[in-house]
Amino acid sequence: MLTTTKPLVRSWLYVPGQRERMLQKSFSLAADAVIYDLEDAVPIAEKQAARRLLAKYLTEPAPASAPRRFVRLNHPSRAEMFEADLACAVALSIEGIGLPKVETADEVHAVDDALTRHEEALGAKLGSTRIMLLIESPLGLVNAYEIASASSRIVAVAFGAEDFSREMGLPLVKQAEAKDQLFARSTIAIAAAAAGVESIDIIWTDLNDIVGIAAEAGQARRLGYTGKAAIHPDQIAPINAAFSPSGDEIAYAQEVLAAYNAAVAEGTGAINYKGAFLEEPVIARARHILALATRTL
Ligand code: COA
Ligand code: MG
Repeated sequence: MLTTTKPLVRSWLYVPGQRERMLQKSFSLAADAVIYDLEDAVPIAEKQAARRLLAKYLTEPAPASAPRRFVRLNHPSRAEMFEADLACAVALSIEGIGLPKVETADEVHAVDDALTRHEEALGAKLGSTRIMLLIESPLGLVNAYEIASASSRIVAVAFGAEDFSREMGLPLVKQAEAKDQLFARSTIAIAAAAAGVESIDIIWTDLNDIVGIAAEAGQARRLGYTGKAAIHPDQIAPINAAFSPSGDEIAYAQEVLAAYNAAVAEGTGAINYKGAFLEEPVIARARHILALATRTL
């Protein structure tokens, strides 16, 4: 399980690197993290303009209240673009890079080494550039845990359902709450938990359906995800809400803890509380809910 006391990272908003207006807006949005994109949201002809814009807006350190910042690079196999993206990203004031379409741990090792070389050249602290990465292919899914644990730089693993669906030849329209991708989504959440890093659920593409994204975000949390990707500002609030313990959950966790502590004081370790069976793992989850609540502040 991911154990940290840092604020929760529930919503991860993508911002295409060449869209200046969106870049400007991103600083004041309630996303917990922003992924500035140089990959698939940026047409090839716009890549250089996007790098220039990122340099214009992301050179100054972010204020403490601003979203955490990552820049998603093109895949290392597109060597020329990747090198230019990496050179751009390491000079920015960001927490780390986003690495798309990862299929093996070796790909991560190579990027880890490249980051170290850049950090040495810039006199930056070695290992200070973090990595969030995307798994978005059948091979990546099969290697998920090895990938998620391939470097101490990794802070989060995302499932990229659109590329995955293409690779698997899935129908164009997915079922509500991505029921047809439950196994794949679950696998990524579990691999990330095993590696002790954050996990980021798929994007919701129906921009007008806020009820739908709220339901899918709730389902993602029940699958064990710690956050979900967003592509539009309207998607941030439902994601943040779904990954924050509700008032009812907090009250119930407090109730259960009090009942359990009273039972333990009387020498019992497992009790029937209003028809619900309580024992240590349940109580640990109640404590976890209360800990999460303190991390949403
Ligand atoms: N980040 C920051 N601001 C955004 C935004 C984003 N991802 N998406 C939209 N906005 C802003 C717009 O600039 C607009 O602001 P304004 O009215 O103050 O100028 C406002 O939110 C409303 O936008 P809207 O008109 O509803 O969006 P759209 O129809 O123009 O664009 C998308 C819809 C999906 C094309 C756009 O949201 C987008 O590009 N999202 C990111 C896609 C992406 O990065 N994909 C790659 C990873 S999967
Ligand atoms: Mg993708």
